Amino acid sequence: MRILGIETSCDDTGAAIVDGAGSVLANRVSSQTELHRPYGGVVPELASRAHIETVDPLTRLCLDDAGLNLSGVDAVAVTYTPGLAGCLLVGVSYAKALAYALGKPLIGVNHLEAHIYTSALGVAPENHPPFPHLSLLVSGGHTTLYRVDGWTKQTPLGSTRDDAAGEAFDKVAKLLGLGFPGGPAIQKRANGYEGEWIEFTRPMMHHGYDFSFSGLKTAVMNEIRGRTLSEDEITQVTASFQRAAIDVLVTKTLRAARDFGLNHITLVGGVSANTPLREELTRRAAEQGCIAYLPDRKYAMDNGAMIAGLAHHYLAEGKVSSLALNAVA
Ligand code: KG4
Ligand code: ZN
Repeated sequence: MRILGIETSCDDTGAAIVDGAGSVLANRVSSQTELHRPYGGVVPELASRAHIETVDPLTRLCLDDAGLNLSGVDAVAVTYTPGLAGCLLVGVSYAKALAYALGKPLIGVNHLEAHIYTSALGVAPENHPPFPHLSLLVSGGHTTLYRVDGWTKQTPLGSTRDDAAGEAFDKVAKLLGLGFPGGPAIQKRANGYEGEWIEFTRPMMHHGYDFSFSGLKTAVMNEIRGRTLSEDEITQVTASFQRAAIDVLVTKTLRAARDFGLNHITLVGGVSANTPLREELTRRAAEQGCIAYLPDRKYAMDNGAMIAGLAHHYLAEGKVSSLALNAVA
C-alpha cells in the first residue's frame, strides 16, 4: 500500500510517498522562503500561486524518486485543515483531481495530527513513543500540549492564549533585523553565547498548562525601544529571548508530564528543529525520569511524508474522504 501525501497549508509545498510499513519512499519539500523574504513574512496570495506552480512537478519528482508511476499510487492524502485557505485549496483540489482520475481513495488529513505523528515517522516500530504520551506541538501557528492516546486520538491539555512560539521567534527576529524565517536566524545568532543574560519575563510560567508568548515579545520590544544596539547587544537580546522561550516551553511541558503521569514526551512542529530546545527538553526530561522523542529534523518543518504516513492510520480506521472534501482554514 503506497500513499501519496500532499502538503500545501502554508509556505512549503510538500509531496511524499510512504508505504504501509511506514517507510518513506520519497519526500520532497519546495520552500518558498526566498519568495517571502522581502516581505518579512508569508504573503498568502503569493504562497497559493507558488503552490499551484510547484505541486504537480514536485509530485512527479517524488514518483521518479520512488521508481513509481501514478498507477503505483494506492491512495492520495492531503492536508485539508488548518492553514491558509487559498493554500489549502490548491492541495485539496489537486489531490481530489488525482484521486478521481486514478479511481483511488482520497484521505483528508489534519495538519496538526500529522505533526504529532512525526515522532514515529521513519522510526522503527520498537522505538515509537508508547500510548498514552504527551506531545508538545510548537510551530508558527500553534503551541499546544496534547495527551496522545492514538495517532488519531489527541486531547489538548493547554495551548497558547496569544502568539504561537514560532510566531514569537519570527516577530522578535524581525524586530532585531535578523531576517525571515526568524526561528533559524535566532538559533544561529544565539549559538555559543556565553555573556550576561537579560532576564526576560516568562509569562504564565508558574501555573497551568497554557502559554503566552506575546508578553515575552513585548518585553523584548521594551528592552530595545529607542536604543541603537551594537552587534554584541543584538546577540545578547537574541540569546536571552531564546533562553526564556525555551525555559517556558520545557517547564510547562514537564509540569504537564508530572501532573498527568505521562513519562514519554514528544516534541514536534517547526520549532522542534531548534537545537537548544531539543537539548534542554531531553536533559530536563531525563532528570524527571521521562523520555523525550524528537523527530528527524527533516520532518520537523511542514512536509508531505507526515501526511502520507498518518493517512495509513486514517485508512486503517476507515477514515476516507469523499470528493466533496473542502479546505477548512
Ligand atoms: O511547522 P512549521 O513548518 O509551519 C507551521 O505549521 O507553522 O513551523 C514554522 C515555524 C516558523 O515560525 C519558524 O520560525 C519556526 O517554525 N522554526 C524555528 C526553527 N526552525 C523553524 N524556530 C526556532 N528554531 C528553529 N531552528
Ligand atoms: Zn506545520
